[in-house]
Amino acid sequence: MSTKILSIESSCDETAAAVVEDGRNVLSNTIYSQIDLHTLYGGVVPEIASRKHVEKINQVIKHSLSEAGATLEDMDAVAVTYGPGLVGALLVGVSAAKSLAYAAGKPLVGVNHIEGHIAANYIEHKELEPPFMCMVASGGHSHLVLVKAYNEYEIIGRTRDDAAGEAFDKVARAIGLGYPGGPKVDKLAREGNPEAISFPRAHVDEAPYDFSFSGLKSAVLNYLNSCEMKHIEINRADVAASFQQAVVDVLVANSINAAKDHGIRKLALAGGVASNSRLRECMKEAVEKEGLSFFYPSPILCTDNAAMIGAAGYYAYMAGERSPWSLNAMPNLKIGERPYL
Ligand code: KG4
Ligand code: ZN
Repeated sequence: MSTKILSIESSCDETAAAVVEDGRNVLSNTIYSQIDLHTLYGGVVPEIASRKHVEKINQVIKHSLSEAGATLEDMDAVAVTYGPGLVGALLVGVSAAKSLAYAAGKPLVGVNHIEGHIAANYIEHKELEPPFMCMVASGGHSHLVLVKAYNEYEIIGRTRDDAAGEAFDKVARAIGLGYPGGPKVDKLAREGNPEAISFPRAHVDEAPYDFSFSGLKSAVLNYLNSCEMKHIEINRADVAASFQQAVVDVLVANSINAAKDHGIRKLALAGGVASNSRLRECMKEAVEKEGLSFFYPSPILCTDNAAMIGAAGYYAYMAGERSPWSLNAMPNLKIGERPYL
């Protein structure tokens, strides 16, 4: 008998639901993206996101069950993201999941969004098992995580300031590319020279696996200002390519060092920035040089989705993790934290 989980994700600007079998087999993965709505404002507007989640969540859940050819009765559990993320947005998914699970008499499993991003790799790579090192880079988070076992995580490195995706979004705005910036910088950078401008690669002395991207962001803004003042024409593709290379170099170096120093032979990517083509290219090269194995999810599983929550939810469910009916949204939930257990 297989284990089927209905999973729900609403931590930011995607309203999503999925049905996942045995943690790795995706029967449906419905995503309603609000990006067009937020593009108008140059970023995610929390209240608009919450209101749109309220409007869409039931349709998205219904669609995902019907795509999977299943009903709520067929589910073994309902999994839902309860943090980290925008509090109002999270509450919509949490309330929907609680109502459905309670009404159908199914167990409720609260899932950490970042652990979900990591678990996207289990869907893509059926053979992948812990331990492995995972570089999680998204719009709100940049972490190097040692996945010691299913449900067991150790944070090896973190960002001191901006997340990698946030830096992409801010630089994209500065060069007039709009929101969301990551995919646009990625595309424009293909026409530019990554060595055209020398931007800093931050290194945190006492914490060799930590990141810092705010200095790089300031360096890009200063470069753009000084060009403007001197009436020098800006080559936006060169700026995009040089900035992107600076981010990628740090992500690659820290990931490889962390894996090697901890004696881990498997390296995975996760989160929205894991879709970056240059990051994948450079990481692949570095990993091959070191003789490590490399894993990354396809783009649809890198950005926010509910299938990844179903994958993480499955391993939590199998380990006996159950959330109480008092489960609340936790906007600052930490990786590996289990406040309800
Ligand atoms: O994981 P995600 O969908 O949402 C969060 O949990 O934050 O990540 C979104 C972030 C955004 O900052 C977006 O600009 C970035 O991922 N991103 C990329 C690319 N695609 C998305 N950054 C660089 N290159 C990309 N191709
Ligand atoms: Zn995310």
